Amino acid sequence: MSFKKPSSTPVVVVTGGGRGIGAAYCLDLAAAGFDVVVADILDEGSEVAEKVRATGREAMFVKVDVTVEESTRALAAAVQERFGRVDALVNNAALYQALGNKRPFTHIAEDEWDKVMAVNVKGPWQVAKSIYPLMLQAGYGRIVNVASSTVHMGAPGFPHYVASKGAVIALTRSLAREVGAEGVTVNCVAPGLVHNDSSVALNGDEGYFAASAQQRAIPRSMEEQDLFGAVRFLTSEASRFITGQTVIVDGGQAFS
Ligand SMILES: NC(=O)c1ccc[n+]([C@@H]2O[C@H](COP(=O)([O-])OP(=O)(O)OC[C@H]3O[C@@H](n4cnc5c(N)ncnc54)[C@H](O)[C@@H]3O)[C@@H](O)[C@H]2O)c1
Repeated sequence: MSFKKPSSTPVVVVTGGGRGIGAAYCLDLAAAGFDVVVADILDEGSEVAEKVRATGREAMFVKVDVTVEESTRALAAAVQERFGRVDALVNNAALYQALGNKRPFTHIAEDEWDKVMAVNVKGPWQVAKSIYPLMLQAGYGRIVNVASSTVHMGAPGFPHYVASKGAVIALTRSLAREVGAEGVTVNCVAPGLVHNDSSVALNGDEGYFAASAQQRAIPRSMEEQDLFGAVRFLTSEASRFITGQTVIVDGGQAFS
């Protein structure tokens, strides 16, 4: 079986690229040579696209709701029209900051549970479903889903989130088996607790971050930049014989 190569100016779609870690991926992947499609439900995605353009790469913002098929199809159509192909997809959008305070599982309402599953599980599937035909056409693609290292440790007060990220790992394996023969790999990155605005909003005091840092083999706070290497690798040609895998990036807190 011969492997096709990425295009000379590869294109990546980053969902949830409008803020937080997703926005950081957009800028880092631009630095790695990608033209970038910033896909988010937030209008702030247009500012991220502008920042990417300021680095000299092409960028486009597409407003998308990953839970709505019509919206993800429109995303794929916009990408097709502008770039004609997609080399990589980073399925990063999720309900994380929007979860609000941690609560006992007995206090989580049914509609909250359903919303988390819709964005965090149905979303990556829906986006992959819309973008995959472009990869199939090219005979090349890299899909990187985003889970969480909490899947490997559990986390009180967050059962819907942790369960949703466990499903992302399962989805990754399932899709990988289905598309491997077409030159498309599907892998997952599972970040540890990143010390960013969203995590501060959710977990509050500094003590929580310090305690987490002490549980790591590399005992320090985790930054968005710590994820860049894994995402660059899994979106690149270099990872061509790795699929269905989950790379935990957490400084050695959880081991799979
Ligand atoms: N921050 C952490 O410590 C941490 C740890 C482990 C995993 N993660 C995961 O990393 C990813 C990014 O984390 P973050 O801290 O930047 O989270 P965040 O909550 O700040 O950002 C999530 C992004 O997803 C977008 N989004 C939400 N619903 C959407 C929808 N329906 N359609 C399109 N876009 C939508 C939001 O607008 C936002 O831009 C998430 O998948 C999160 O679960 C984060």
